Amino acid sequence: MTPPDDQFRADVAALDAADPLAPFRARFTLPGYVIYLDGNSLGALPRDTPSRVASVMHDEWGTGLIRSWNSADWIGAPQRVGGKIAQLIGAQSHEVVVADSTSVNLHKLIVAALDARPDRHVVLSEPGNFPTDLYMAQTATRLVGHGRRLEVASRDTLVDQITSDTALVLLTHVHYKTADLFDMAAVTAAAHANGALVLWDLSHSVGAVPLDLNGCHADLAVGCGYKFLNGGPGAPAFLFVAERHHAALCSPMGGWMGHARPFAFVDDYEPAPGIDRFLCGTPPILAVAALESGVDLHLEVDMQVVAAKSRALAQLFIDRVEAQCAAYGVTLVGPPRGAPRGSHVSFRHDEGYAIMQALIARGVIGDFRAPDIMRFGLTPLYLRYADVAEAAEILTEVLRTEAWSADEYQVRHAVT
Ligand SMILES: Cc1ncc(COP(=O)(O)O)c(C=O)c1O
Repeated sequence: MTPPDDQFRADVAALDAADPLAPFRARFTLPGYVIYLDGNSLGALPRDTPSRVASVMHDEWGTGLIRSWNSADWIGAPQRVGGKIAQLIGAQSHEVVVADSTSVNLHKLIVAALDARPDRHVVLSEPGNFPTDLYMAQTATRLVGHGRRLEVASRDTLVDQITSDTALVLLTHVHYKTADLFDMAAVTAAAHANGALVLWDLSHSVGAVPLDLNGCHADLAVGCGYKFLNGGPGAPAFLFVAERHHAALCSPMGGWMGHARPFAFVDDYEPAPGIDRFLCGTPPILAVAALESGVDLHLEVDMQVVAAKSRALAQLFIDRVEAQCAAYGVTLVGPPRGAPRGSHVSFRHDEGYAIMQALIARGVIGDFRAPDIMRFGLTPLYLRYADVAEAAEILTEVLRTEAWSADEYQVRHAVT
């Protein structure tokens, strides 16, 4: 009879052999000695990206010089790449642009939403939302003034807290720590029933879970380019404004790229008619080129297939870690096994920081979110089932031997 461990290994190998996404791993540049479980924070480098960025540098910048704004359509890049992202989020191409950072896009859309609901005072979010969402809401409401304020309600009571004084509901669709998922259609419907708008932060959703913004009647959304979209460190972000809001909503940052006629060079600001009004300054063309390369990869895959593999990877990892590590004080955070979730898995442990450092030293790269969360991103395009199984073994070994207690793993780095 085959011993259980051999059987387990054989089962994992069978999963990898049957994986329809397996060929995509070769489309990324990954160091051989690493199991990369942080693609939810910084996506891996697509193999095509360096040559594409090099071509933009050498051919378009080096040779084309300023002519490339027209000849290489640099000027249309925010809309072109936005249109591609639209396909991943269930939007129309003219409802999405690439621009700025997620934080800046939050500011633009929070203020625009407050202006569109002048008699209402509250931006409603949840405690423990990603900090930048809360900070941007605090600072935007302060700037707009007139009693505007951020209020928070826990996710189980949130829908009941939406009232006729709620201007905007601001939520992150997949929670950055726990991978808990909001029901986008239900929350949006509840907000609309009370006359409020909803702004979804899709940073941990885009490229990770299937999305249908228009199917959910979503109003507004923002999201990161550097996580599951593999756009590179500090990649530009994107924003979505549903077509029905284009005429009424205005950006508080009226830069020339959002003007109706930027090259008319007139003195007075006049917002562009469509989504372009949410652009501000000159797009970072090299960074947009890297983002486009990552987005193009995603257009080759069916997000339902990606999501199915994400769920299977999560079940494998959760099963293994719970079976082997619970005795060492590791507990699952967020949705239980089998429940709808985002594409990362988090576990709590009092020594989570040091454990993660010990894992990183052994080539298993995840991250840590204070005060005690070890976060593991499961990216179906470049992870094998065998990687996830191996990571669970290494975590078990770090806990069993208390390798994490070494002095070197206690040192807090600036980025965790
Ligand atoms: C939910 C969410 N929103 C926003 C951000 C970051 O925004 P920015 O790109 O402006 O730093 C993150 C980063 O991890 C995030 O998790």
